[in-house]
Amino acid sequence: MTEELIITKPDDMHLHLREGETLKHVVMHTAKQFARAIVMPNLENPVTTVTMANRYCQEIKKHIGDSLFNPLMTLYFNDSLDSDELKKVRDSDNIIGIKLYPAGVTTNSKDGVSDFKNCLPIFKMMEEFDIPLLIHCEVSDKNVDIFDREKVFIDKYLINFHKYFPSLRIIFEHISTKEAAQFVLESGPTIAATITPQHLLLNRNDLFSGGIRPHHYCLPVLKRSAHQTAIVDAALSGSPKFFLGTDSAPHPKNQKESSCGCAGIYSALSAIELYAEVFYKNNAINLLENFSSKYGASFYNLPINSSKIKLVKKPLHIPESIQIGKDQIIPLFAGKTINWHLSS
Ligand code: NCD
Ligand code: ZN
Repeated sequence: MTEELIITKPDDMHLHLREGETLKHVVMHTAKQFARAIVMPNLENPVTTVTMANRYCQEIKKHIGDSLFNPLMTLYFNDSLDSDELKKVRDSDNIIGIKLYPAGVTTNSKDGVSDFKNCLPIFKMMEEFDIPLLIHCEVSDKNVDIFDREKVFIDKYLINFHKYFPSLRIIFEHISTKEAAQFVLESGPTIAATITPQHLLLNRNDLFSGGIRPHHYCLPVLKRSAHQTAIVDAALSGSPKFFLGTDSAPHPKNQKESSCGCAGIYSALSAIELYAEVFYKNNAINLLENFSSKYGASFYNLPINSSKIKLVKKPLHIPESIQIGKDQIIPLFAGKTINWHLSS
């Protein structure tokens, strides 16, 4: 008999949808699997105001057709956020939080934060208004080894942010190290983390297996296998502090396969199946639903989705490449076969 798993429809708590032709196509991949997604604001012209977020949300909604998919928006943290703007965020139904990028840390982050001292009054207001702060937790200091940038951010900044603003809800995005998992576990209930499929499925050997593998390059960069194990343990721990956030981030094939390939992995095509693969391989498929569909919603004070999805245990072949408008995109696990299939 075919094995089946019916779970509450999941939410993707960290997603890049882009704009224009790419947005038009990639939004459908997410909408097929997820009821809601938290949409990152790092467009080429970042989404810095409530007006811009509402406009971007309308643009996304034009492409979701008949699906009941609900995009949840974020603002790009910037110095001009004042109490009037933050009150609008607090009172908004579709803006869920504010995403902070240290300047220069990743794709489209040049307008991010360069001096954290300027952020503190804004953190104070966000704490008062109970607005979640989503952080890309890596230092962008080029003198810090790229594999240590997450740990250095925790020690230099995050510990203090949590200490001085203990009621501020902080989402430690895409954790990639054992230090990150440990920090989240040991800190208060206002700290949680998203976990991507790539940090569960891959480690830094996969970046260099038989040659350089640009489609495995993302930020935070993949770490050594002991860290991968710690991230898997966190996802399977049953702690409500860890939940699904794909960080699916499409880049055209030719921009990844270049002398300076950009960071980002496209996983939206088969995201829930890839997470199912990890839980299944670790004999923990029964823990998938909380991780993918409940813990994130609870942390963000959202209702749990009422709709369900069905996963069937039968081989799923992930295509080598997909065409998005005029671009080719290589999805995560391209050309591989995995065990679970989302039933339509
Ligand atoms: C993301 C992107 O391409 O927008 N890239 C990535 O490697 N994860 C940005 C980000 O989340 O760092
Ligand atoms: Zn991201």
